Amino acid sequence: MDFIPYGRQTIDEEDIAAVVETLGSDFLTTGPKVNEFEEKVAEYCGAKYAVAVCNGTAALHLASLALLEPGERVLTTPNSFLATSNAILYAGARPIFVDIQRNGNIDLDLCEEALKKDASIKAIYAVHFSGNPVEQEKLARLQEKYGIKILEDCAHSIGARYRGIKAGSCTHSDASIFSFHPVKHLTTGEGGMVTTNDPALYERVRILRNHGMVKTPEMKPWEYEMRELGFNYRITDFQCALGISQLRKLDRFVARRRELARRYDEALEDLAVVEPLYPYHEGSSYHLYVVWADFRHLPLDKEALFVEMRKRGIGLQMHYLPINRQPYYRSLGYGNETTPVMDRYAEGCFSLPLFPGMSDGEQEYVLNALREVLGG
Ligand SMILES: Cc1ncc(COP(=O)(O)O)c(C=O)c1O
Repeated sequence: MDFIPYGRQTIDEEDIAAVVETLGSDFLTTGPKVNEFEEKVAEYCGAKYAVAVCNGTAALHLASLALLEPGERVLTTPNSFLATSNAILYAGARPIFVDIQRNGNIDLDLCEEALKKDASIKAIYAVHFSGNPVEQEKLARLQEKYGIKILEDCAHSIGARYRGIKAGSCTHSDASIFSFHPVKHLTTGEGGMVTTNDPALYERVRILRNHGMVKTPEMKPWEYEMRELGFNYRITDFQCALGISQLRKLDRFVARRRELARRYDEALEDLAVVEPLYPYHEGSSYHLYVVWADFRHLPLDKEALFVEMRKRGIGLQMHYLPINRQPYYRSLGYGNETTPVMDRYAEGCFSLPLFPGMSDGEQEYVLNALREVLGG
């Protein structure tokens, strides 16, 4: 059996042909494939606008510059990849880390408590962790009642929905972002996207993606104007060709992830010491399959578990270490927040392999190895 990582891309001949065809076209970058990919992702998510960029972190950066003012305070989750809160810092704003719920998502009730106490909080950055959307009715309430800005980090959740609301539709948020890193549901190698229903935010992100530069029909053919300090966060046409080809298969990829997640849930019923992060549900697009383990009642600790599984050719992973306890964040004065659920989560949780190309046999192999190592 080959090594089984926690996540892996699925690339087929159609994807390769799409990239090769674009390599032979007139545009390698800033061409028609970028627009087409943006239109297709916007349509898929049910958002009005989309801007494709070179990675999810760039999407977060640009959306944050458009949404936040320096000095503003922003509620966010410690249970995410570093990029979510880093983007708040890039914009000169200040993240405030809020504890999570047992399902790994930010606790929006705690967010409301914080909002009641502190009028200087201007935004929430929520991650639909592992593909499981946060409660949309709560987002709607907080947005309306407190007039705050909301960003949905959908890096894990393309294809997910909450009672009919699709991730990335920005139904109750100002902007959403996606990542198209190879472990995600669809890949462009590196890549990202901002979706929004706000025309002004859309324009601002487009301009920031390209050096803050504007060119209008009234200008002379050689003229351009730099109106603010932007970046080169463009994505190439051949990456977008790959994205378009992958998007056609996205629903199939998500369906397979759900099938594997459901089977993990069923199999884990026999293993009393390990349980799913949340009971199976169709709304999650299952970027990750995370389990809670009670290491106090296990014959080995987490490190030994990772080592033993790796010896059997299986890559477990930890999503995530609390961002606020990272050395850099400690150097900024973070790290002493009271986040009991996140602390327990960080001790007990880990991710099992899950990707659309995973065979039934590979999943069975992972489960058998887990039973063997945990003595279940
Ligand atoms: C929740 C979350 N947000 C943002 C990002 C950043 O995306 P990228 O790696 O494409 O920059 C990631 C990537 O791992 C992520 O998991």
